[in-house]
Amino acid sequence: MTQTVTAAMAALEAHRVEISQHRIADFFAWDPDRFARQHVALDDLLFDYSKHRATDATLAHLLTLARAAGVEERRERLFAGDLVNNTEARPALHMALRNFSETAMLADGADISAQVLAERARVFAFASAVRAGAIRGASGQVFTDVVNIGIGGSDLGPAMAARALSPFGKPGLRMHFVANVDGADLADTMGDLDPARTLFIICSKTFTTQETMANAQAARAMVAGALGEEAVADHFAAVSTRIDLVTAFGIKPDRIFTMWDWVGGRYSIWSSIGLSLAIFIGPEGFENFLRGGHDADRHFQDAPLEDNIPVLMGLLGVWYRNVWGCQSHAVIPYDQRLGRFPAYLQQLDMESNGKSVTRGGEPVTLGTAPVIWGEPGSNGQHAFFQMLHQGTDMIPVDFLVAAQPTQADPHHHALLVANCLAQSEALMRGRSQAEAEAGLLAQGLDAAAAAALAPHKTFPGDRPSSTFLYRALNPRQLGRLIALYEHKVFVQSVIWDINPFDQWGVELGKELCNQLAPLVTARTASLEGLDGSTAGLIGWRRMLTG
Ligand code: F6P
Repeated sequence: MTQTVTAAMAALEAHRVEISQHRIADFFAWDPDRFARQHVALDDLLFDYSKHRATDATLAHLLTLARAAGVEERRERLFAGDLVNNTEARPALHMALRNFSETAMLADGADISAQVLAERARVFAFASAVRAGAIRGASGQVFTDVVNIGIGGSDLGPAMAARALSPFGKPGLRMHFVANVDGADLADTMGDLDPARTLFIICSKTFTTQETMANAQAARAMVAGALGEEAVADHFAAVSTRIDLVTAFGIKPDRIFTMWDWVGGRYSIWSSIGLSLAIFIGPEGFENFLRGGHDADRHFQDAPLEDNIPVLMGLLGVWYRNVWGCQSHAVIPYDQRLGRFPAYLQQLDMESNGKSVTRGGEPVTLGTAPVIWGEPGSNGQHAFFQMLHQGTDMIPVDFLVAAQPTQADPHHHALLVANCLAQSEALMRGRSQAEAEAGLLAQGLDAAAAAALAPHKTFPGDRPSSTFLYRALNPRQLGRLIALYEHKVFVQSVIWDINPFDQWGVELGKELCNQLAPLVTARTASLEGLDGSTAGLIGWRRMLTG
């Protein structure tokens, strides 16, 4: 940490001691304009950050930290195509995939805009042809089902977005996503699909990922078995940087879509990896989705730090993670169709910032990525919200809710919104023991019984949350939300001085799996040299599968 960052962190720590005597509800009572100041609008999307344990002074300290850490300079370098992914000597230019401005996007000093547009045009042409029934299966049948085979960033983005945007999908076209190496995933998906009307898209940036290759080979065998080997070419398309490997798999050149090294897997939904989504919601819908991402890029680049949504999200996250010691962060969409959004953000946030060395390879001195988790509301209220309200830990929450429903009942939607607002209010407000006791007395309990029960009905309150409220969940809105979170993750990486664009932490498990696979398969191979637990577990499995 530089001296200025250390000083800013120390100032924040001292400030926490000062303001921890006060409650968020006090801040509202003292300052009727608090909401007016502590929200930012990006078109119709409102980011309310007034329900935080933060005053104007807190935000000033956090902005000092951002400036000390060089957020503005690093943001400039990101967009300029510098090698911000320093351990892989690559830029991170997912913003180029959704760039609708005249500004050139440079990788290795060359403008990449033309190749992005050319590949997008190929994706859109293919998507349109599948939708129109111009591209069909080997027996001439129109495709009714699309199966995306990929994992991590080659699955989570398209799967999350297809569910989020289901009302915008082509009627009669069903989307499926197979990721897990567990054969149950493919088997259950294929259960009632007719291979003759199914298009498979293999998505893998590297085209070497074990899970995806196993599923792709199995799907290929299913198609060959059902329709004949010569039908395979008509039922497969693929997205990868490794055109050679895709070709060797047997995919026709006009069905191979590319991406580039400067697109990280977890940032790849904007690239050809979005092919299944483009087929589902059509080129126009997909372009709107890209435009939403671009809206967020413009906002992140142009808005002053104090009115910059990803900067504020990132700084408030650092405030809780590093100054208050919070270890997790919940994301609760009051939007059933955003059911996979928390899982998507888990990869985005934790694969990006789950690091313990700085960009220069020194141990980090601040805690990095919190655990990101969540489920849609209102379901979560009847599961884990008990802990959010009365557990021993303070867990900051992001609530997301649309002002109006998309293809859903308006009465249900009013209840949904009321539930969302009630939860953030309850988390903030809490209920004191005296209030709980008074309530119990009013219900007719005697003094002793009321005193005994009151501690259980007490809520500490003062639990922070942000709320995103947007007009409706549509492709553009989803694009905005995703890109805002991407930039939040980037801002935090700058404060922690870590590289958010590599993922070396996934390597060791992959290597060990390759070593263990033959031992798991073979019944008698020696287990010598393995640790006692691993050897014992393989032995037990051998016994169970006798
Ligand atoms: O799990 C590591 C990872 O490399 C992710 O970063 C990536 O999204 C996923 O695997 C899939 O990789 P690929 O697209 O190369 O199959």
